[in-house]
This record gives sequence, C-alpha cells and structure tokens, in this order.
Amino acid sequence: MELDVHKPTILVTGGAGYIGSNAAFLLSQQGYQVVIIDNFKHGQQFYPDWARVIKCDFSDQSILDQIFTHYNVEAVMHFAGLIEVGASVRDPKIFYEENVVKVLKLLNKMQEHGIDKFVFSSSAAVYGTPTKVPIVEEHPCNPINPYGNTKYAVECMLSDFSRAYGLNFVALRYFNAAGADVENGLGERHKPETHVIPLLLEAAQSGETFSIFGNDYQTPDGTCIRDYLHVKDLASAHYKALKFLDGNKSAVFNLGTGIGASVSELVNMVTKQTGLSINVEVKKRRSGDPDRLVADPSRASTLLGWKPEYSSLETIIADAWLFYQKPDAVLYYSDQSYQQSSVF
Ligand code: UFG
Repeated sequence: MELDVHKPTILVTGGAGYIGSNAAFLLSQQGYQVVIIDNFKHGQQFYPDWARVIKCDFSDQSILDQIFTHYNVEAVMHFAGLIEVGASVRDPKIFYEENVVKVLKLLNKMQEHGIDKFVFSSSAAVYGTPTKVPIVEEHPCNPINPYGNTKYAVECMLSDFSRAYGLNFVALRYFNAAGADVENGLGERHKPETHVIPLLLEAAQSGETFSIFGNDYQTPDGTCIRDYLHVKDLASAHYKALKFLDGNKSAVFNLGTGIGASVSELVNMVTKQTGLSINVEVKKRRSGDPDRLVADPSRASTLLGWKPEYSSLETIIADAWLFYQKPDAVLYYSDQSYQQSSVF
C-alpha cells in the first residue's frame, strides 16, 4: 500500500497479531496512516489494504531508521513480544531478549529520531497474586513469573526514560483479551492455543475434552475468575491512549471491565452460544494461577474517557465463536515477497 510521507503515521509493532491488528485497524479507521512491522513468526495470513506491512524484527535498526526517516511517525504502539507464561518459566532468556532488550533498542532508535510517544502492551501479570481485588494501578507490582517480570521491567524503563529524556508513554495493563472483530476478520488464532475461550470453542466443536485447571479456588464455584475484555474495547483504549499522549503526559492504565467471570461460567456460556455440549474434566491447578484477577478500570474511565462497549460475556463468546467458524483468510501472506532488508 502506498502511503503519504507527510501524513501523521503510527508505527505498530506486532500489528499482524491478535490485539495489534485490531488496534491498528481502528487507528486506520480514525484517519491515521499505519505502518505495521511484524516478524510473522506464527505464519499468520494477513494482507490488509488499510496499512503498509513490513516483515521484519521490531528492533531491526536499519529498517527502523528507514521508516522513521521516510514517514512522519508521531508515535509507536508496541504489541510485539512473547506472551506465553509457561514458556517464560521454561526459557526466560528468550523472553528477556524479545520483551526487554529489543524494546530498549527500539526506544533508543525512537529517541535518535526525536519520536517521543510510545504506547506499550503491558499486562495484569505485573501484579502477580493480588492482595486486593478489584485491582487498582497503585497495587504493588510483584510479578510471579518471568513473563510478568519482563512487562514490569519495561514499565520501569519507560518511567525512567520519561523522567530523564521526556519520553511520553502509556502502559496498558491488559486483563484477559477475548472476542474478535468478526466483520473485519481480526481475531484470535494462536499456535499452540493456550487461552481458555478458543480452547473451549475447540472442545465444543471437536467433542474433545476440555480441562478445567482446578475447582478448589476461593471463588463461589471454585474455578478461577478473570476479567475478560473484548478486543474491540482494547483497541479503542489504544486510540484513546494515543489522544492522551497529545497532552504530553505519561500514565499506566488497567484495561478490564471490573467484572469477573469464572471458568465454569465460561463453559456454560460457550454451551449456550454454540448450542453444543462440552465434555469437561477437572484437572489439578495450573501453577501460578491466582484465584481472582479483576481490574478496577476507573482510571482509564476518568483520564482516557474509555468505557468497554462490547465486553458482555455473551458478545465476547458470540463473536469468538463466529470468528472460530470462519475459514482462514483467503489472501495468502507470501513469505518471499515481504522478506525485506530495505523498505524504500
Ligand atoms: N484455563 C482452564 N483450562 C484451560 C485453559 C485455561 O481452566 O485449558 C483457566 C486458567 O486456569 C485460568 C483461566 O482459564 O484460570 C484463563 O486462562 P488463560 O490461559 O486464558 O489466561 P490467563 O489469565 O492465564 O492469562 C492471561 C494472558 C496472559 C497474561 C495474563 C495476565 O493470556 O498473557 O492473562 O494475568 F499474562
């Protein structure tokens, strides 16, 4: 896609992924020009006509130089990175490399080019096991796994850079992203899948057994409670965060609904929405799962003017189910044509 070199442009790292693509699409709808960089490590098919897509590592110094020189980049939204908690425990080195070291390289490049606005995908994982729920942003950060440590390390780096160099940043602490933009084909497909809602849909469709990880938690039905947020609501929070940065301010926000749902409630809702029954077995607890993770989203509501619109459990699961049943996108992403070391 040809872009206008003068138009305000947002660089979106990891913009071919689940949350990044939803946010990038909304930005394009709001009149921003969008450049996506993504390593396509998951082999996803993605060929939007609303953004320029470049296949590369998000810390590639030469490509960043070219993009920042060529386009009028106002801000960087950073979604790229590793997300699987279990993998971070098994192999933390790669998580520190991808989630921290490379972010430092990206920030340094931004600074060299005078780009001072950054929106960061953080996580509720920074809180670890909360002592008080709903969780406010002032709750102490005590991550309990390497994934959460890397997210918190970047938050600390951003605060330090903000104080020392005037970087303006927003760190968005996601609770549980879910749902899909069905109309525009932007949804969740992880390989391997570890997230509860896609796994439930898979179980409903295939007849395979779904495992509940523990039913002896301190919750009304004994299964873990999480705060599920529709990805379209997550996307709108990113747009609002960008607007917030226009005021040259920095802040951290929780992104959740403030309402939790248990794993058993999800099973019931998936059964209802799909009309299919699910074979369920109860297994032992997965290590590191707190009983209850629910956001207090008041700060985002007050300072960003953000409110979830699509995040009822009904809508989340209905949209996730519609997306799950869609065949893969017809447009095929060609590895060869996008492998670039020079972009212009
Ligand atoms: N669960 C099951 N069975 C499964 C899969 C999950 O019972 O087969 C349960 C989990 O034990 C948990 C809930 O469903 O209680 C949600 O699990 P997910 O793996 O879908 O999501 P998490 O809450 O573990 O993780 C999410 C993000 C992480 C992020 C974390 C922050 O996916 O990237 O929130 O709290 F770190």
